[in-house]
Amino acid sequence: MTETKQKRVLSGIQPSGEIHLGNYLGAVKGWVDRQAEKENFFCIVDLHSLTVPQEPEALRHQTRSLAAILFAAGLDPAKSTVFIQSHVRAHAESCWLLNCVTPLGWLQRMTQYKDKAGKQESVLMGLLDYPVLMAGDILLYDANEVPVGEDQKQHVELARDIGQRFNSIYGDFFVIPQPVIPEVGARVMGLDDPTVKMSKSYSHIRGHAVRLLDDAKELERSIKRAVTDSGNEIRFSEEPERAGVNNLLGIYKAITGKSVADCEADFSDARGYGDLKKRIAEVVIEELSPIRERYHTLMANPDDLDELLARGAEQARTLAEPKVAEMRRLMGLVLPK
Ligand code: AMP
Ligand code: TRP
Repeated sequence: MTETKQKRVLSGIQPSGEIHLGNYLGAVKGWVDRQAEKENFFCIVDLHSLTVPQEPEALRHQTRSLAAILFAAGLDPAKSTVFIQSHVRAHAESCWLLNCVTPLGWLQRMTQYKDKAGKQESVLMGLLDYPVLMAGDILLYDANEVPVGEDQKQHVELARDIGQRFNSIYGDFFVIPQPVIPEVGARVMGLDDPTVKMSKSYSHIRGHAVRLLDDAKELERSIKRAVTDSGNEIRFSEEPERAGVNNLLGIYKAITGKSVADCEADFSDARGYGDLKKRIAEVVIEELSPIRERYHTLMANPDDLDELLARGAEQARTLAEPKVAEMRRLMGLVLPK
């Protein structure tokens, strides 16, 4: 039997803010569904979360809680290496080394930086440097593919540029990664305002997000409150005034995996948006309830969770540590005896 080398996949998710249906459909579900085909690394990027002020105890809780969600959603330690970024020191170190080949102008052009910095009185250095840390996450593992939502494409492209720049100075060393944007569920919009992306930063606003750990009653309540329009037509649409219905159908499509035509056909007998919302709520509840149950079991057994994370970090280190040591050598640092 000839063995073809499996593609290596790496992605990251921040532990700050409450994980929502957009994160799940735009990122986590795709990781789970495709984990058998690839060699996978999934990193809980706690160092990235520090780029905006965090309450220490809340960050610690959310980091472990996110890990439990990832395992509960179906990431299988036998197929996927799940680990906490700060457990593998090579991430912070590679960030410094890559800082020293990255022009400042590349970072100042990042749209996420401009957005976030524009909203803050005082901007932390870490926020500007965020994409370099992310480039390190990816390059350290020689990842071929980086599955991310649309909003992160620019950062992956920057990681490519940084990798290419390093290669051109120090020789062919890093694999240059490809961003992989999921076709469905790439952009789940806010239920309260379907013109803005569902976001962790607004998770606390009532009616905005479908939070992954909400119970069935709460899930139903938030979906029933979703903003729609004054019509009654249930079909996909690019028109801004129909964004609410389009978003609900998009959620349905991402969960069921059905085609546009089949999704629309499923609602041909629906009596208005009330019916639509009721059925969307049903599929969301069916998808999320088992995840929530497994989550609570994991959180009730903290030693097991810590053990899974320790093993993940150990596996990640076997790749990241030699890689960062070689970066140091290439860049002219003296390696310790
Ligand atoms: P973040 O919440 O920024 O840590 O994002 C974690 C992952 O979820 C990234 O791959 C994002 O691109 C993805 N993501 C975040 N918000 C959404 C959304 N509303 N719709 C789809 N994907 C999202
Ligand atoms: N910046 C990404 C986000 O907010 C998270 C992230 C950090 C990431 N490092 C990564 C994603 C490496 C993919 C690969 O969504």
